[in-house]
Amino acid sequence: MITFADRLNTVEEYYFSKKLREVNLLKSQGKPIINLGIGSPDLEPPSRVIDAITESMNDAVAHKYQSYQGLPELREAMAGFYKEHYGVSLSPLTEVLPLMGSKEGIMHISMAFLNEGDEVLIPNPGYPTYESVTKLVGAKPVFYDLVAENDWCPDFLTLEKSDLSKVKLMWVSYPHMPTGATASNKVFEDIIAFAKRHNILVVNDNPYSFVLNDYPRSILKYKGAKEVCLELNSLSKTFNMAGWRVGMVLGKTEYINAILKVKSNMDSGMFYGIQKGAIEALKCSKMWFTSLNSVYEERRQKVWKLATALNCTYDENATGLFVWAKLPPHLKAEDYIDMILKEHSIFVAPGTIFGSNGEGYIRFSLCAPIEELQEAIARVKLGVGVQ
Ligand SMILES: Cc1ncc(COP(=O)(O)O)c(C=O)c1O
Repeated sequence: MITFADRLNTVEEYYFSKKLREVNLLKSQGKPIINLGIGSPDLEPPSRVIDAITESMNDAVAHKYQSYQGLPELREAMAGFYKEHYGVSLSPLTEVLPLMGSKEGIMHISMAFLNEGDEVLIPNPGYPTYESVTKLVGAKPVFYDLVAENDWCPDFLTLEKSDLSKVKLMWVSYPHMPTGATASNKVFEDIIAFAKRHNILVVNDNPYSFVLNDYPRSILKYKGAKEVCLELNSLSKTFNMAGWRVGMVLGKTEYINAILKVKSNMDSGMFYGIQKGAIEALKCSKMWFTSLNSVYEERRQKVWKLATALNCTYDENATGLFVWAKLPPHLKAEDYIDMILKEHSIFVAPGTIFGSNGEGYIRFSLCAPIEELQEAIARVKLGVGVQ
């Protein structure tokens, strides 16, 4: 009998992979499902990006293996983007590594820095991949609480009461997914000081800083950050290029080299045309963000109405691609989203998929056209299900 690796017993199939099968089955039965579950941008990338990939097809090198570190122009464009939008100076030669999406970067970083049994601080609630990758590499997830009362930021006093001697890595993600909370300068400074006190590598996963957020920040901007921090970033949400799979990891040369050691043994470079498109995206002016956010702003107004119609409350100061909404007391998130799916054919993510502190919350994505959001509101307000 062929058996599976033990590590497979440490993880489950991704929630959306399972739940979307159920949603698609409902669709195939003719239910007009409105999908507000997943954050996959439905808008177009900048047109110059499409032009660049199209033109690149005729380049002689387009179909060859590409450099493990990406094209020099791509690394320069990434460093330029960090300088222009975050005020962070990075060497394009040694401090920037293009990735095929930042999700993959979570695995590369974990493989580069974690040994079996090392502990990893993971936000609860937070992006589920931090936990599953930690388990896949044989390390141990240790969850730290994020709660509304503390603006979804770490409580270091409480954290330091526990034994941190085995902690090697800490995931933070500001602006935070799923809550949309942002970190102040002080919070970033506290994170860095905490990392230094305990000799922990902090990774800020930062894919949402340009969505409905007036003050994009990078952890690398803060004093002393490069000694103990890396940052992941992505073109998925900033430029509507989720399917293209372009991300990046940024930080100190030695850390980037360690990640490259892993990555260069896993893939053989990113498709040339995608790199050419990514370069153009990164050069977009601020106008791009303004026009992108005007669409999301209008959608968010509708989603707020929808949340209210579903008796939820929300924080109007939150940022990002989602509305994180609090349910009336005593309602369970998974029961509530099942009810919304059944009664109104609207799919919303339950907060519990992001951790136990997501109980009592649901997450609406802004990745649906305004007409669908209007239809969703009408369905809920009229109290009609769709037969
Ligand atoms: C917090 C967070 N990190 C990382 C990712 C992965 O993004 P990418 O498309 O760059 O792999 C996501 C995607 O939804 C996310 O929400």
